[in-house]
Amino acid sequence: MEHGIGKSMTRALVVLSLGLAVSCARKSPPSYLLFTGSLSGYLEACSCPGTPYGGLNAATHLAREFCSDHPDALLVDAGGFTTDTLDTLNAFFMARAMQLAGYDAIALGPRDADARYTGLFSSLPALTPEAPFLRIRDVLLVRVGPEGKPDLSGAPGARFTVFLSSGGRDTDEALAREFNPDAIIESEGDFGQFTIGQTLVVAAVPRGMSLGVLKLSDAGAEAWFIPVTDSTPTDPEVDFILRQYGDAFRQNLALTGAKIKFRGSGYCKFCHAEEFAAWKETEHATAHATLVADGKQDNPWCLTCHTTGYGRGGFSDQEKTPQLAGVTCESCHPGGHCPDQPPPRGNLDECAACHTPDQSPGFNGYDYWEKIKH
Ligand code: HEC
Ligand code: HEC
Ligand code: HEC
Ligand code: HEC
Repeated sequence: MEHGIGKSMTRALVVLSLGLAVSCARKSPPSYLLFTGSLSGYLEACSCPGTPYGGLNAATHLAREFCSDHPDALLVDAGGFTTDTLDTLNAFFMARAMQLAGYDAIALGPRDADARYTGLFSSLPALTPEAPFLRIRDVLLVRVGPEGKPDLSGAPGARFTVFLSSGGRDTDEALAREFNPDAIIESEGDFGQFTIGQTLVVAAVPRGMSLGVLKLSDAGAEAWFIPVTDSTPTDPEVDFILRQYGDAFRQNLALTGAKIKFRGSGYCKFCHAEEFAAWKETEHATAHATLVADGKQDNPWCLTCHTTGYGRGGFSDQEKTPQLAGVTCESCHPGGHCPDQPPPRGNLDECAACHTPDQSPGFNGYDYWEKIKH
């Protein structure tokens, strides 16, 4: 790593020749690097208890705001921008949104590097297992994946070196000792930061809930976070992509012409009036209304948990399938044909399909069942 010696020497000479009593050379200005990691396909926040604020649209707003004061700041992602389960449509639109957001480098994490995504990210400045480094201005960015130590042969020198890692804490600690980069940004990890020798190790806040800022200067690296709050505006360009994503999803549904395979709770009510009455009082019955109140009823991803069978021959929209709006009986009792072949009885292990840690961090099968039992 160079340290901008050339530049500060020149300045020192200028200062001396002016005869001023300045004893030390003025330092080169710091470099700023904005970072995200583990965006997990969140083009927008879900507003569920686990991710009330965040998403790429809000994080992008914060990045643009920061860049109006620091136009040279770089924007990078440390990995994990695709969803936990393979979703090529979402990945495609995430990639487009990140391109519009102006990302300078995106380190592909293990999920993002899945062979089934090959070709989707060609428009992105992606750091891959095959091309793990990139120098932008005075910063060398290096991807670290699950395979550990990156191959740095042929890497150019730079004033600062930053690793973007989804390799895990043990790997990162070993790399800090071996390579001594200025900073290692982890795509996920315990919050907080620490140093090993000269190296600052800091984990990104997932799902765009905060934007990370890394300040690189000759005095060392510092990091802090700008949180997204309920008053953070969203970026119009990312919101545009979000709408395209919804439209594409719906057109795809129309094409595949999925036949309706769900009947809706009104049908079950004929014979299970008590269960129906109990269910009607729960938040499951109004889960779609929650999205409407938020203006998010067009986001296909929200619909997969806040309605019944969305994208799988169930809910399509409020006009065509009002009986499947919300988490209705068949979300938990799919299939079957009562009374001769009743559907599965229901099981608390299946709640986790929607009550994930990201959406429902306080989920506890027993206590939650008490609130909705029938
Ligand atoms: C025509 C009346 C009728 C309708 C309509 C009906 N059920 Fe049933 N259902 C029954 C009867 C009767 C039983 C009890 C069968 C038994 O005990 O073997 C039953 C049993 C069940 C069970 C319990 C299964 C078990 O293993 O204990 C579930 C769950 C269930 N129904 C869900 C539904 C759902 C969901 C719907 C709507 C999609 C529905 N039923 C519609 C009559 C009906
Ligand atoms: C198809 C997705 C889905 C499944 C499966 C599911 N839930 Fe839910 N659940 C939701 C959604 C969405 C909400 C939020 C509803 C809203 O918009 O208010 C919710 C809310 C709840 C709430 C209200 C939370 C509160 O703060 O009071 C309880 C309780 C609950 N679920 C229990 C369960 C239990 C128990 C199971 C399993 C037997 C289960 N859920 C399965 C989607 C699901
Ligand atoms: C993986 C399933 C899942 C997805 C996807 C999801 N939600 Fe939720 N959401 C839930 C569950 C489960 C709850 C209830 C959590 C609890 O109370 O513990 C919930 C709760 C909420 C609540 C709070 C409801 C209340 O009564 O206070 C809002 C608002 C909400 N979700 C909006 C959204 C929006 C908007 C999206 C899409 C951007 C979305 N959700 C995507 C599962 C999901
Ligand atoms: C969030 C998931 C969920 C939803 C929504 C849901 N159930 Fe259930 N249901 C369960 C679970 C879990 C059980 C098993 C409870 C047990 O074993 O004690 C169950 C049990 C039942 C039983 C068997 C009850 C008994 O005592 O034998 C029937 C019948 C039933 N549900 C019908 C319905 C109907 C009708 C609806 C819609 C009006 C509905 N359920 C909505 C999760 C759900």
